[in-house]
Parts: sequence; structure tokens; C-alpha cells
Amino acid sequence: MNFQILGTGSYAPEHIVTNDDLSKMVDTSDEWIAERTGIRQRHISVNETTHDMAYQAAMRALDDTGVKPEELDMILCATISSDLASPNVAIMVQKMIGATCPAMDISAACSGFVYTLDVAAGYFARGKAKKMLVLGAERLSKMLDWEDRATCVIFADGAGAVVLGEGESYLSSKLTAKGDDDVIKIPYYVGLSPFFTIPGEKPCINMKGREVFKFAVNAMYNDVQEVLEQSGLTQKDVSYVIPHQANLRIIDAVARRMDIAPEKFYHNIERFGNTSSASIPIALDELNKAGKLKAGDYIVLSAFGGGLTTGACVVRWTK
Ligand code: UT7
Repeated sequence: MNFQILGTGSYAPEHIVTNDDLSKMVDTSDEWIAERTGIRQRHISVNETTHDMAYQAAMRALDDTGVKPEELDMILCATISSDLASPNVAIMVQKMIGATCPAMDISAACSGFVYTLDVAAGYFARGKAKKMLVLGAERLSKMLDWEDRATCVIFADGAGAVVLGEGESYLSSKLTAKGDDDVIKIPYYVGLSPFFTIPGEKPCINMKGREVFKFAVNAMYNDVQEVLEQSGLTQKDVSYVIPHQANLRIIDAVARRMDIAPEKFYHNIERFGNTSSASIPIALDELNKAGKLKAGDYIVLSAFGGGLTTGACVVRWTK
């Protein structure tokens, strides 16, 4: 026994920041950002916390299914940007929606949502859950150096959610980790301990973009092939690949190498930027709400990010 996806939800802050807006803040241009990343605009939080966004996404996912908060057996949230170290985002959502189940966050950067689905599958396999809420929620705008044009044009805020019920739709998965704090690093607040004397670094996203790019294309290509093989499927069976929305050129490069039609690689990075662990559930929700998914469709999710981590899985749509 594992799970099926009963419904989806997502939320992005109302405030939109365009490439032109950013070109007034740093030395960049709409042309550079659109050409190099595909991004045209992103949603940035104004006074909304990560758990505020996660709550909105959770409510929309519950509405999509008719599942009541009290029916949930567990809430998991993939995030690296909780506004509170404790309570975590998942517990804040538990409180806000009026659920009573256990809740916890999982940290695996941009691969977080795929990692978290894999953890969720374990609860179903052990018969510990009949209904779960799984979220990806990020307020990356608080972790950006808004004077660093290499990162502030890329990352953004948002949240996505799925409600899971018992089923057999999680067909295969692959998670990887390759310890590396050189290519992507986000230092944390150093704290106030008088005993810790190592000077703090800026608590902002620090990234060697080109290296991530190369890593990402190879990893996604290999991961997608491997999870399809594990499921006994071929590239021709795929209805949609939902890649982590990090760069349209990464998505295009992977699509070019595969025998899957480019239009099956869903992207919305143009409108949302890179929302880390929220990017895949936001994209899944868009596909679902647009009525583009039908029962029996095979959907491949594939992510990569800080860690360095990667995660991919195949899910059969049943709604
Ligand atoms: O979520 C997972 C984590 N992140 C990623 O997946 C990111 C993966 N990498 C990327 O998406 C791309 O590498 C970036 C979009 C980050 C950068 O694109 P690039 O084509 O690899 O550019 P680059 O870093 O090699 O920089 C090229 C030039 C540099 O100038 P010089 O040295 O050639 O004079 C940069 O200083 O572009 C310059 N540059 C910019 N120019 C205008 C860097 N950022 C900007 C900017 N506007 N915002």
C-alpha cells in the first residue's frame, strides 16, 4: 500500500515583482533574466510568513478533496525557510486549519517536496496513515541578498500542497544526496552564544549557478530515466514531467535529450520564478486545476537543489 493524490492546492503572494522592477534595484535587465532563466515575474511576500502561504495552499488542497482537517493522520512540509525554528511550518498549518495530527518539516532544499512524498509513502506502507497533507512552502525572499543580481532575480515565494489518501499510485522513486556546501550554500543566523567565535556569514543564498546548471541537467536526465525503468514504463508512456522550476534552459536541455515531447515538460517559471520546494506542487496544482490531468496519466516529478540533492518519482493520476 502507498498513496494516491486526492487533490491539490497552491498559493502565491499577491505582490508581483517584474524583471523591470528588479532592473531598478540591481544592474540587470528584463532581457538578461528572460533569456538566461525564462523568468518574467515572480511573487514576493509582503508581510506573509511561510506558514501563512502554506495555510492558504493547504485549505485549497483540502477544498479540492472534501477531506476534513480532523481526518488527517499527518502533515509534512518541505521547507528551508520556516519563519519560526519552532513551531515549524507544518505545525503552524496544523493549528491554523484546526487539525489534531502530528506534523513536521523536512529540509532538502529544492528537492524537498519529492523527498517529503517519499517519507509520506513510508507512513502509508506501514499502515500508519490513511490521509496526509504534504506541503512545499518557501519564503526565499527573506534569504536573498537583494544586492546580488546573480540570485535575487531567480528565487521567489509560494506554497503548494497535496492531500494524499491510501492507494497504489506512487510507482517508483529515487532520492540522491551528494554532500557539498560549495556549489549552493545558505548560511544560517549565527546566534548569540558567547562560546561560538566563528564569525557569521550573510544568511543569504550563495550559489555557483553554472555548476548547478550542469549538475541539474545530468541529474534530471538520469533520475527520470531511472524512475521510469523502475516503474516498467517507457518515455512514451509519460503524460507530464513536472520538473523543479529553476531555469527554463535546464528544462529545455533535459527535454532535448529525452524521447518525451517538449510540451509534456510543464513549466510556469515564467510567472513564479524559483520557489524551491514549492515549485513542483504549485505546478501540479496548476495542471490539475486547468483540467489537464486525467485518470491513468503517468506523471514524473523531478527535482534537484542544495545539498546537493536530487529526487524523482512516478505518480499515476487517479482523480
Ligand atoms: O533551485 C536550484 C538552484 N539553482 C539553480 O538551479 C540555478 C542553476 N543555474 C542557473 O540557472 C544559471 O547558471 C544562472 C541563471 C544562475 C546564471 O546564468 P548563466 O548563464 O550561468 O550566467 P553566469 O553565472 O555564467 O554569468 C554570465 C554573466 C556574468 O558576467 P560576465 O562575467 O560574463 O561579465 C554575470 O556577472 O552574466 C552576469 N550576470 C548578470 N547579468 C545581468 C549574472 N547575473 C546577472 C543578472 N543580470 N541578473
